[in-house]
Amino acid sequence: MSELRFDDRVAIVTGAGGGLGRQHALTLAARGAKIVVNDLGGSTDGSGAGAGSPADKVVEEIKALGGEAVANYDSVTDGEKIVQTAIDNWGRVDIVVNNAGILRDKSFAKMENADWDLVYEVHLKGAQRVTKAAWPHMLEQGYGRVIMTASAAGIYGNFGQANYSAAKLGLHGFAQTLAVEGRKKNIQVNTIAPIARSRMTEEIFPKEIIEGVSPEYVSPMVAWLCHEDCEETSGLFEVGAGYMAKLRWERTKGQCFPVGKEITPDAVAKRWAKITDFTDAEHPTDVNNAMGAILNNIIRKL
Ligand code: NAI
Repeated sequence: MSELRFDDRVAIVTGAGGGLGRQHALTLAARGAKIVVNDLGGSTDGSGAGAGSPADKVVEEIKALGGEAVANYDSVTDGEKIVQTAIDNWGRVDIVVNNAGILRDKSFAKMENADWDLVYEVHLKGAQRVTKAAWPHMLEQGYGRVIMTASAAGIYGNFGQANYSAAKLGLHGFAQTLAVEGRKKNIQVNTIAPIARSRMTEEIFPKEIIEGVSPEYVSPMVAWLCHEDCEETSGLFEVGAGYMAKLRWERTKGQCFPVGKEITPDAVAKRWAKITDFTDAEHPTDVNNAMGAILNNIIRKL
């Protein structure tokens, strides 16, 4: 199998001044993609923005390795400016890796609305603004690859991360609808929930495992999902430390109550074990598919 290449492809990687974004940018650039290295600078909690140097450093790294890249210092909430950088330099945008992120961790009881709003702004609104600006170009050229960066905190919940969890799983919902709308135009949209050492997570991982959680173990999946040969769309993947897996929805077979008759809370309680029993579970993959069981219960009555 020959090496997967990205020659003539233009990629935007947001938050690419360090951590995972830097590695995604290096990996795509090493295989021929032209990269907009976006990073606002600033600290993990989103304060002190405005420093251009992280993006500049990564651009220098890419160029030193023989690749092509330009820096962009706008916030992802100004997504159109980031996309304009790609258009001004190379006239197209094929790949958007929505990676920029911040943390404002606090228990929900102590979380200020400002902590909620800023995390939402950077993760969910930021990804929407960048993708929204890239979307017409992708529709017109009949090609696009978009990555959302979610988190295990969004999938499973995590103490102190109500704001982050909501934004992160919101990105997967966003991706699933974009995948439906983009399918006919060969625009594929997938979500990763990565694990990697970065300044965001450096204090979480014990010394013994820090080597194993290199961002280098995440970027190959991002690159594959962004490649023209990859047919995956609307997927959600956990990736890190050499582990890669796909998640899907699982639904119990469920219980049907007759339509046209009163359903009491007591009846729900009585059947609760069955409603929540995953024996012979189903795996709905789209809205029509998922609605089948509900509609069948009505049709049964007709
Ligand atoms: P990081 O802090 O090294 O990278 C995030 C980058 O985003 C920083 O360089 C920061 O300057 C930039 N950024 C922040 N706000 C921005 C804005 N408004 N506009 C443009 N750039 C902005 O952290 P890391 O770990 O590399 O995180 C990358 C992504 O992966 C984030 O979305 C994070 O939530 C997610 N993630 C990371 C995990 C990990 O284990 N490292 C786990 C789960 C998710």
